Amino acid sequence: MCKLCWTSVVVLLLAVVGMGYKFILSGEVVATADGREAIVLEPAERDMVLAEMRQFLVGIQGITEGIVNDDMASVVAAARPLGTATQQGMPGSLVRKLPLGFKQLGFDTHVKFEQLALDAEQLGDGEYALGQLAELMQNCTECHEMYRFETAASLQEAQ
Ligand code: HEC
Repeated sequence: MCKLCWTSVVVLLLAVVGMGYKFILSGEVVATADGREAIVLEPAERDMVLAEMRQFLVGIQGITEGIVNDDMASVVAAARPLGTATQQGMPGSLVRKLPLGFKQLGFDTHVKFEQLALDAEQLGDGEYALGQLAELMQNCTECHEMYRFETAASLQEAQ
């Protein structure tokens, strides 16, 4: 057996696992004083994700208003644009900086908005949609408890 070959294989494997961890699982995060992990983004990337967040809030406002007015067409119209199709606009460079847990929660949130729109359309049941919204919003609160966004500049200021 070639000892050197095995050593190289092991070293390479470790490198692959290390890079996989860095690029797929961990993202670009640093610990912060308030207990949340800061995801470090470029200012434009942060603005893009925050704009998406504000769209979530706009959607929730529309959904709840539709439910109280018993106007299920408005519920569908508010929820549908937040489905999984919206995510496809995210550039790969940004996606790589997001930790896996963040991506999973984010994706699941889009899936749930899409399901809510579909069910609102097919069942026309406001009470049911409200239940789905309550469950979906656990993703909002869970993620907000875990993460915040920073830029290289804002991190430096904080020190
Ligand atoms: C995958 C994680 C994640 C999910 C899911 C998530 N958010 Fe956020 N959201 C964040 C982070 C991180 C911030 C930035 C917080 C900070 O930097 O202090 C944020 C910020 C926001 C902001 C502030 C936007 C701004 O312009 O400053 C709003 C509003 C918001 N989220 C609404 C929502 C709503 C509503 C939902 C659920 C439908 C939601 N978010 C789901 C991670 C998430």
